[in-house]
Amino acid sequence: MADTHKDVTEISAGRHPVVMGRDALRALERALRDQASTTTFILGDENTLRHCLPELLAHVPTLREARTIVVPPGESSKDVVMASGIWGHLAREAADRQALLVCLGGGVVTDLGGFVAATYKRGIRCIHVPTSLMGMVDAAIGGKTGVDLAGVKNLVGVFHDPLGVYIHLPFLRSLGKRELLNGLAEMIKHGLVHDAQLWEDIRRAPLHDLDALTPLVARSAMVKAQVVSADPRENGLRKVLNFGHTIGHGIEAHSWESPQQSLLHGEAVAIGMVCEAWLSWRLDLLPREAYDHIAAHILDLYRPYRFEHAADHRLLELMRNDKKNSAGQFRFTLLTAIGKATVDVPVAPAQVQDALEHYRLLVRV
Ligand SMILES: NC(=O)c1ccc[n+]([C@@H]2O[C@H](COP(=O)([O-])OP(=O)(O)OC[C@H]3O[C@@H](n4cnc5c(N)ncnc54)[C@H](O)[C@@H]3O)[C@@H](O)[C@H]2O)c1
Repeated sequence: MADTHKDVTEISAGRHPVVMGRDALRALERALRDQASTTTFILGDENTLRHCLPELLAHVPTLREARTIVVPPGESSKDVVMASGIWGHLAREAADRQALLVCLGGGVVTDLGGFVAATYKRGIRCIHVPTSLMGMVDAAIGGKTGVDLAGVKNLVGVFHDPLGVYIHLPFLRSLGKRELLNGLAEMIKHGLVHDAQLWEDIRRAPLHDLDALTPLVARSAMVKAQVVSADPRENGLRKVLNFGHTIGHGIEAHSWESPQQSLLHGEAVAIGMVCEAWLSWRLDLLPREAYDHIAAHILDLYRPYRFEHAADHRLLELMRNDKKNSAGQFRFTLLTAIGKATVDVPVAPAQVQDALEHYRLLVRV
C-alpha cells in the first residue's frame, strides 16, 4: 500500500494521500503545479505564519503569489465567528469555486480551514500542511473538520477530505516542549490501540531528540492513515481512535472552566487514557500488568490534573455531551491488550466515577 521513493513516502488515508519525507514540500510544489486554481489562499495562525511560512515559501515557490489569511493562535479560533470571518474574507477577495485553501498550522488551523473549505460555496479544495506534532500524526489526516460551539468541542463540523496532507518534519523545530508532549499523547494512543511495537519504541525514545522522533512520527501518521482508510466516515474501526477521548474530552472541557488549570487536548487525552486503561482492567478486558505499564509511563510524562470529588458530577455531565455516546449511554473504546482495542463498550456512570476516583488517588499530593 505504501508507495516509497528515496525522499518521499506517500501513503493512502483512503480518500486522500499523506505525503512524508525530506522532499514532502517538493512534492507539494509538483502537486500545486498540476492544480488549476483561480486563487490560492494560505490560512495560518500568527505563530505558524511567523515560524513556518518563510520555510514553506522557500520550498514551494508556487505559493509565493498566494494570499494569506491569519487567525489568532489557540482553540478559541476554532469557532463559527472565526469561520464566518474567513468566509467573508474569501468573498471579499472574490474567491470562486476553483479557489484553493492551503492550511498551514496545527489542528486548530486544519480543523477550522477544512470546515471553511467544506462550506464556502458548497465546497472548495484544501490542502493541509500540518506544523504541530498533533497535526502531523492526527488532526490533519482523515477529513474530519469542525468548530467548537457553546463550550462543546467539534459540535459543528463536516467531513471534507483535503487534496493531500504534506508533512514536513523540520517545522517541529520551533514547537515548544509542552506542544510536543501534546502531540505525543496521540502517538501513544496509536501504539496502544493498533501497534504494540510503536508503543514500545515510543516508551524508549529520547523525546528531546527530533531525529529519534522522526521515524515514530511517520509510523504514527501511518496508523492514523490506515485506520481512516479502512473506515473513512467512522462507522466502525475508526472508533478505536477514540480511546482516552471520552474521559479525556470531559477533563479537557472541565479544565477550561478554570482557566489557570486549562489543559491542552493531548494532556487531557493522556489522563483519559490512564482512566480508560484502568476501566479496561476493571472490566476484565486488559491484564493488570498492562494497565500498570501504561499508567506508569503516562504519569511520568504528563503533569497531574487535580480536581475534587465534588467535580465528578460536572465531569460526567460534560462527558454525556460527547458525540461518541448515544441515548445518554456511555460507550467506550477500551483496550483488550497493548496494541488492541474494542469499541462501543457500555460503561455505567458509577464505573466512570470509579475511574475518576482512581485517577484522583494516583495524583493526590
Ligand atoms: N480533525 C481531527 O481528526 C483531529 C484530531 C485530533 C485533534 N484535533 C483538533 O486539533 C486541535 C489541537 O491541535 P494542535 O495541538 O495542533 O493545536 P494548535 O493548532 O492550537 O497548535 C498548538 C500551538 O502551537 C503553535 N504552533 C503550531 N505549529 C507550530 C510550529 N511549527 N512552531 C511554533 N508554534 C507552532 C500554534 O500556533 C498553537 O499556539 C484541537 O482543536 C483538536 O480538537 C482534530
